[in-house]
Amino acid sequence: MDDTASPADYPAQLALVHYPAPALRRRTATVTVFDGQLRNFCQRMFAVMEDERGVGLAAPQVGVSRRIFVTDHARPKDGEAPSPRIWINPRIVEPSGTTVYEEGCLSFPAIYAKVTRHDRFTIIWQDLDGREHSESLDVGAGQFLGIVVQHELDHLDGTVFVDHLTVAQLGLIRKKLRDLEVDYRTATGKAGSPLRR
Ligand code: CO
Repeated sequence: MDDTASPADYPAQLALVHYPAPALRRRTATVTVFDGQLRNFCQRMFAVMEDERGVGLAAPQVGVSRRIFVTDHARPKDGEAPSPRIWINPRIVEPSGTTVYEEGCLSFPAIYAKVTRHDRFTIIWQDLDGREHSESLDVGAGQFLGIVVQHELDHLDGTVFVDHLTVAQLGLIRKKLRDLEVDYRTATGKAGSPLRR
């Protein structure tokens, strides 16, 4: 799906989708309307993310193909205060270095794997009023948010974290992926979009 996707209202009920739902594989449309519906949708995304105890949630994970994700990377168990943030039409510029971090994803329950990401970069995004912001992040300096936003930005391009894994890494989680494929088929009667390698 491309940027000309026709706008539709945001769904009344948001439900997290699991791999291999096709929604996770679609490219998303740029947000052009900054209104109360967008604000309301983002607030409801936070509710889903908190219910699922996630640190990030991208719109495709609730079946909405728009360039939006939300994050709250604070770790309450380490005494950190909540840090909810909304990222609309985000993009990364000037990436440098690499870093490896063990990631999970609400759409891949109980699956974790080490993924290589940029170590430093600048992210540019819009807020709920359409105002543009930029922030430089440095994972090596302890900014965990830098991992979260790279993971969530991938979702907006139909990419999921297991796409970054080596064949050997995939071998370690293959059984769990198959289990999710069976669950999806049982729930929907469809195969969805399983990994092709
Ligand atoms: Co994810």
